[in-house]
Amino acid sequence: MSTKKLVVPSKISPTLCIVLCLILFLHVTASENQDVPGHLVKRDERQSIISTEFGEVLGANVYDGNETFRLQFITLEPNSLFLPVLLHQDMVFYVHTGSGKLVSYRDEYKKENVSLKQGDVYRLETGTVFFLQSDLELDLARQKFRICAIFGNAGEALRQPTAYGPYSSIRDLVLGFDKKILKETFKVPSEVMEEITSGMKPEAIMHGLPRITKRSISAYSSFDTINKDKKKSNLFNIFHEKRDFKNCNGWSTTVNQKKYSAFKDSKYGLFMVNLTNGGMMGPHWNPMATEISIVLHGKGMVRIICPSLPNQQTECKNTRFEVEEGDVFVVPRFHPVVQMAFNNETFVFMGFGTSTKNNHPQYLAGKASVLRALDKHILAASFGVNDTTFDKLLNKQDSVRLPVFYCGKTSLLLGVLQ
Ligand SMILES: *[C@@H]1O[C@H](CO)[C@@H](O)[C@H](O)[C@H]1NC(C)=O
Ligand SMILES: *[C@@H]1O[C@H](CO)[C@@H](O)[C@H](O)[C@H]1NC(C)=O
Ligand SMILES: *[C@@H]1O[C@H](CO)[C@@H](O)[C@H](O)[C@H]1NC(C)=O
Ligand SMILES: *[C@@H]1O[C@H](CO)[C@@H](O)[C@H](O)[C@H]1NC(C)=O
Ligand SMILES: *[C@@H]1O[C@H](CO)[C@@H](O)[C@H](O)[C@H]1NC(C)=O
Repeated sequence: MSTKKLVVPSKISPTLCIVLCLILFLHVTASENQDVPGHLVKRDERQSIISTEFGEVLGANVYDGNETFRLQFITLEPNSLFLPVLLHQDMVFYVHTGSGKLVSYRDEYKKENVSLKQGDVYRLETGTVFFLQSDLELDLARQKFRICAIFGNAGEALRQPTAYGPYSSIRDLVLGFDKKILKETFKVPSEVMEEITSGMKPEAIMHGLPRITKRSISAYSSFDTINKDKKKSNLFNIFHEKRDFKNCNGWSTTVNQKKYSAFKDSKYGLFMVNLTNGGMMGPHWNPMATEISIVLHGKGMVRIICPSLPNQQTECKNTRFEVEEGDVFVVPRFHPVVQMAFNNETFVFMGFGTSTKNNHPQYLAGKASVLRALDKHILAASFGVNDTTFDKLLNKQDSVRLPVFYCGKTSLLLGVLQ
């Protein structure tokens, strides 16, 4: 069975391609179960974490068979405020639509006041206090301010989502103490303390721009210096980057620590893929990273193969599933995968990869294919065919140059080697 699939990349003829796609699909439908426990969270399975008139936060936890990944989707209506929180974990996020502001403070040296717009990528470190404010109006595309975020620190696995979330309200942290302690700490008269502690707890997302008094301006003055000295901003926009790969069937871009220095020591890097016209990311696996993807636009097919021990059945099953806008899916490290667009619509997904170093995906096809790097006789033996047959598979790949891109004539966008 694998032999047939492996031929895919080596042929460029459209007819053949259709035949092979069919084989791929028939094979899939014939032998596989459709449920993908933990690998896939549909849009309507997200959990509501915060919901107010002015915005919402939805959560999704996905599991790769080893670790749970925690995602949040923050949406703010125009002119709304996500009140300050203290981060218990690193947060890496992507601005999906709209525009707004982020003000963050970790210490004297790490404080920012930045404008965010679609395509921006950002990392906030554990221990940072931050708030978000959406702009007064919808953006040009009449979209709300929407953020996709993932939480977690390098070297720390989240095996059980904890009872409390990845951040906590700054108000609760302060007002957890009793009035006596607070009065001593802040050295204010009782009436002031009384007023503060008896204030109604506001909703976590509220209407923006509370009236600015003279006092609040001076309290924030330490931020002004940042804007003045224009030190290199922590901002990075994925659409301003050169694409890693691009052809008529789509493009892909990765953001690692080489491109974005704020990803140094981060658990996650980021990537985006745009497939059109039945384009496909060719069969590949990631030797370094698990990938947690969010579908931003359109629909597509994902097929994930389970790695197995020699001569043993694995517990996990090969899976194939359709995804659409808002769905989250995980491709575990070492699991071969293809992502495919339908012929009739664009399939765009972005995701977080658990490595910020160069994760060189290993593609089955192409000159640098792992299959070509190993001894032919031995590989033939491991496929249970003779050398002649195996040769046929590999020889065809001589014609394939790098990066492996097919354009126009075929419906395959093949995987690419960095
Ligand atoms: C399982 O999770 C741990 C903790 O994040 C990680 O170090 C390890 O590499 C993961 N194993 C695999 C096979 O991904
Ligand atoms: C952030 O900068 C803007 C100007 O760019 C300013 O109006 C705003 O008050 C600043 N916010 C904070 C919290 O410093
Ligand atoms: C994806 O590619 C299509 C076709 O080139 C384009 O129309 C669309 O705007 C792209 N989407 C994104 C998010 O870049
Ligand atoms: C494209 O085709 C797929 C599969 O046939 C279908 O589910 C989807 O609704 C179609 N999309 C559009 C925009 O027609
Ligand atoms: C290799 O196997 C194929 C198919 O089983 C067979 O037709 C062919 O004769 C074999 N070649 C050699 C050299 O044994």
